[in-house]
Amino acid sequence: MRVIRAVDYFDLSRKAAGIIAAMVTLKPDSVLGLATGDSPLGIYRHLADSFNSGDIDFSQTRAFNLDEYRGLAPDAEQSYRLFMWKNLFSKINIKTENLNIPDGLAGDPDAECARYEAAIRDCGGVDMQLLGIGHNGHIGFNEPGGSFVVNTHLVDLTDSTIDANSRFFKTREEVPVQAYTMGIGSIMRARKVLLIVTGRQKAEIVKRAFRGAVSPEVPASILQLHCDFTLVGDEAALSLM
Ligand code: F6R
Repeated sequence: MRVIRAVDYFDLSRKAAGIIAAMVTLKPDSVLGLATGDSPLGIYRHLADSFNSGDIDFSQTRAFNLDEYRGLAPDAEQSYRLFMWKNLFSKINIKTENLNIPDGLAGDPDAECARYEAAIRDCGGVDMQLLGIGHNGHIGFNEPGGSFVVNTHLVDLTDSTIDANSRFFKTREEVPVQAYTMGIGSIMRARKVLLIVTGRQKAEIVKRAFRGAVSPEVPASILQLHCDFTLVGDEAALSLM
């Protein structure tokens, strides 16, 4: 496990974007695993700027997103597909046929999970997986529990995750209660994992996840066992490490 200390959120975003840019430059047809949420927004801005200045070419890059709400159409305001389109994909030259996100409207959840897992495998697996971390230690929507779920699956969201995500919806009642997520195995099979974390409010969970015991009660803790895991945090988030 490698820890990169950034001064602040801007510095963190620039450093992490540099790591992703290096990956795409060295392997233009990289398979990137991507995340939504607040944490990666700065990275996506840096990547779009680097594309605009001619420093990166995404024309051969493939992308798989970690997760998607069940029940939201791809063009719904809060869907992760639209989030990715607005914040990154519409700003770079990645091809639409190379974008993969679970289908929130799939009729058969089991078939959708199997399809998504097979699509990752058929692409040769994820080269670099970008992650954020939830206040409860979740990665993707792998919530704390008694065991690690290996492959892409449908989850019932916890109250704390619904609360946290309700900031993107008009009312808490509108927040979907289920989501598709890559599993812990899908994430651990990525050849490189890059987790970014910002802010004092995540310092406690960062300490538990990366200095505590490996346990499904803190899903991110499994990353301690990944052979190429990089944690990029700002001073506030790493203050208890
Ligand atoms: C997003 C995702 C989540 C977030 C996590 C942190 O695709 O899978 O696990 O990474 O909830 O969210 P933020 O960055 O908003 O604090």
